[in-house]
Parts: sequence; C-alpha cells; structure tokens
Amino acid sequence: MSKIGLFYASSTGNTESVAKTIKEKITQVDVDFHDVSSCSKDAMIEYDFIIMGISTWGDGDLQDDWEDYFSNVSKIDFSTKTVALFGLGDQEEYPDTYLDAMGTLYTELMNNSATVVGSWPTDGYEHDESTAIIDGEFVGLALDEDNQDDLTDTRIDSWIEQISPYFIK
Ligand SMILES: Cc1cc2nc3c(=O)[nH]c(=O)nc-3n(C[C@H](O)[C@H](O)[C@H](O)COP(=O)(O)O)c2cc1C
Repeated sequence: MSKIGLFYASSTGNTESVAKTIKEKITQVDVDFHDVSSCSKDAMIEYDFIIMGISTWGDGDLQDDWEDYFSNVSKIDFSTKTVALFGLGDQEEYPDTYLDAMGTLYTELMNNSATVVGSWPTDGYEHDESTAIIDGEFVGLALDEDNQDDLTDTRIDSWIEQISPYFIK
C-alpha cells in the first residue's frame, strides 16, 4: 500500500489545523506529516502521492515558509507523481488575490510535469479574482477559515472522497 506525503506550512496555525484534520480523516493509507519549515529539501521525492497545503499572504504571495522552500519544489521532477492541493485564504479581505499562492504552486507543479488532481468548484465563494482558478475551477480544495470555517469540515470530507481513488490503488 502506498503512503501519502502531506506537506504544509502555516503562519497562524490555520493550515496546520486543516492538515491535521485531513490526516485524521484519511484512514485507508498512512499519511506522513511534513512541515516545510523544517523538512529536508528532498522529502517529497519518496512519495508517489503528495498533498500540499498552502496559505496566501501579503498581496497574493506565498506563505513565508513555502516561499523559502519553493526552490526545492522547483528542482523535483514530478512526472511520476500525483499531487492534490488545498489552499487557505480570506476571500472577503483579499477578494483580488484569494488563494493566489495555491495558483502559484499549481503552476510550478505543472511546469515540473506533475499530475494535479482534486480541483474544486467555485460555487459558494464570494470574491473577484484568483490565480488559483483555471478553466472555471479552483485547482485544489478552497478553504477560508476567516469567513467560512463552518464549511471546512464538509468540504474536506467531500474532497477526500474525490481524491481517494488516486491514492487507494
Ligand atoms: C497580512 C495578511 C495578508 C493576507 N493576504 C492574503 C491574500 O493576499 N489572499 C488571501 O486569500 N488571503 C490572505 N490572507 C489570509 C490568510 O491566508 C488566512 O488567514 C489563512 O487562513 C492563514 O493561514 P495560516 O495561518 O495557515 O498561514 C492574509 C492575511 C493576512 C493577515
């Protein structure tokens, strides 16, 4: 049975909390937890299936630890890897850059030949723009702990159901 590498970073704890929930809810496969602020630069290499969680900071920027780790992601060949993304942001305060960091990470992964799964519908979100929307869908699970934390649990359940066929072989 293959295991999953779950990579995340978090400035105020929101993404970490969601990452823990996702790990708890995936019961069929072992999930290894990696905070990118402290994991090795090669840590992603050993996984065929990877989940990455990222929040957006500044004005559409990568969260700081992801910013520091990004050059490591850029050096990895993802052509044999399947990746699912989840992003956290604040659609009310930052309606023009909601989840942009997830969009930046997605673009880098696609440039490095990853197969990215787990796109998510835009229904139920109120914002203006996001680079994380491609062909009318978010490129990964879209979460907003600042305004819609009551929806997070059911969104996670539905998303895990959606991505499960890719990691339960
Ligand atoms: C100074 C500041 C800038 C932010 N910039 C953005 C942004 O550009 N886009 C966005 O979607 N969210 C933005 N956010 C919201 C955070 O992404 C959100 O609070 C997230 O849940 C933080 O997760 P973390 O604590 O795991 O890093 C910002 C928050 C702060 C405080």
